[in-house]
Amino acid sequence: MDIRFPRFGSLTGDRHFDVVVVGAGITGMSTALMLKRQGRSVAVVEAASVGSGETSRTTAHLTCVLDGRLSTLIKRFGKEDAARAVKAHSAAIDWIEKTVHEAAIDCRFARVPGHLFSEAGDKAGGEVIAKEADAAAKIGLAVEPCRDLRLPISVGAALRFPNQAQLHPLAYLRGLANAFLKGEGGAIYDDTRVLSVDDGEPCRVQTERGTIICSAVVLATHVPLNRIMLHAKLEPMRSYVIARTSELPDDAGLFWDTADPYHYWRTARLGDETLLLVGGRDHGVGEPQQEDNFAALEQHARERLGEAEVRYRWSGQIMEPVDGLPFIGHNAFCTRVFVATGYSGNGMTGATAAGLIMCGEIEGAKHPLAQVFSATRGTPVASVKGFVRQNALAAKNVLFDRRRMGKPENVDDLAPNDGRVVRVDGQPVAVFKKPDGRLEIVSAVCTHLGCVVNFNGTEKTWDCPCHGSRFATDGTVLHGPAVEALAPHDLDTHDKEGALVETILRAPGALMTGRPLAE
Ligand SMILES: Cc1cc2nc3c(=O)[nH]c(=O)nc-3n(C[C@H](O)[C@H](O)[C@H](O)COP(=O)(O)OP(=O)(O)OC[C@H]3O[C@@H](n4cnc5c(N)ncnc54)[C@H](O)[C@@H]3O)c2cc1C
Ligand code: FES
Repeated sequence: MDIRFPRFGSLTGDRHFDVVVVGAGITGMSTALMLKRQGRSVAVVEAASVGSGETSRTTAHLTCVLDGRLSTLIKRFGKEDAARAVKAHSAAIDWIEKTVHEAAIDCRFARVPGHLFSEAGDKAGGEVIAKEADAAAKIGLAVEPCRDLRLPISVGAALRFPNQAQLHPLAYLRGLANAFLKGEGGAIYDDTRVLSVDDGEPCRVQTERGTIICSAVVLATHVPLNRIMLHAKLEPMRSYVIARTSELPDDAGLFWDTADPYHYWRTARLGDETLLLVGGRDHGVGEPQQEDNFAALEQHARERLGEAEVRYRWSGQIMEPVDGLPFIGHNAFCTRVFVATGYSGNGMTGATAAGLIMCGEIEGAKHPLAQVFSATRGTPVASVKGFVRQNALAAKNVLFDRRRMGKPENVDDLAPNDGRVVRVDGQPVAVFKKPDGRLEIVSAVCTHLGCVVNFNGTEKTWDCPCHGSRFATDGTVLHGPAVEALAPHDLDTHDKEGALVETILRAPGALMTGRPLAE
């Protein structure tokens, strides 16, 4: 099994293709392969490298049992549409299985059962299980009650969903990329950030290295690049995973509990050992954390399964749609620009379903699922709470948090590898102390819509709580919707500012390069 990706080379100059797919994660590579099989010439344009986004951080449970809860989906969308949504994810697993066989992709694809369980003594969890069993029956989804899981946890109630699946996400992605590049008509440009997309006939995709003219564009960037329409309906979350040694078999199954926020479990063969992946501790992007989330996950697993060695830890970003279903199809106010986002924790199947839907739409065919997942649909009344919460948070950040920063002299006690937002001339500035004690200083104003970023101590990044943009400590964009870096901050322009200038100048080797914040 090979999970390494070669570099494909960046775009040089202007080009013409039938379709441009922006982003080379599971959404981009699946859609690109489907389009090429339809006879289209396709360019995949990737800001970093293939598989460098959230697809490299997934735990790759392939399931049609959606995170949004079946009973909730029925309440929001009705029985028929909830059933359609579930079937789309089942069909996605089938497509992945077929593609793995056809393209001989060595990615450890295996059909395994999925399990929703409540822990012993959790009465509320037991009620959730009963509701979900009822909801599954209503939409005709196969499910059976069970008591004994192959995961040795003390269970109150549990449901087994047969015929779900698992795979190694990067090995699968590599297989998709190889299949896509076979023969003529497909190109991957990595290290090429798309800066803007103009809808029209033709469309124009403006990158930092040239322009591509095409007849349709697919935004497969995890979060769309457009300024606001969809972002108001998405909640960006961080999720954490540990991988610990395990005696369980490779095909023990998929497991997720009824806790809120929930935990998810599966085994995976990595190298010559089987590891148990344990995920959870989800929280909003940019929310300051009081606790070490990895330590908390480790404790959660240890209390239930005993001691084991933790081999890996990582975190990643999940886009929660406020109403529980992803947004797929025509981008707002566009005729030839398509978008797929908001998969929640079902992005592997959601992305595959998105590819199948968008390929049909690009050819002008009305896909039977287009309406259910429409990217321009309204928010059902039952999910208005999430919509209001997310947008109130963004408004509060722009209107109030920008004015309420820590005092300038606060940076004095900053520990190495830590960051803090302070105020200079009334403007929020993000200060990071490098391990060698030098400071990296950039504007703390997110280049998407102007919220103030917060320091993420786990990843050592600046994260925007409003729509989930993330930046490296030098300001480079790591995750959209922002496409521009945080502006470098030149303290020389604030000589008259007093305290902060003095404080920062006292720090050894402060980095003071770049243009002033005001530009
Ligand atoms: C911890 C964790 C666990 C998860 N577990 C599961 C699971 O068990 N099952 C499941 O189904 N899903 C799971 N998910 C969700 C799933 O991994 C994601 O939804 C999915 O990988 C998203 O794929 P994508 O292709 O849309 O985005 P990405 O993989 O993020 O790809 C987007 C690409 O677009 C590129 N890009 C961004 N902006 C630009 C630009 N301006 N120009 C050019 N390129 C750009 C990025 O560099 C990136 O490579 C999990 C996610 C996380 C974080
Ligand atoms: S303001 Fe939208 S991501 Fe920061």
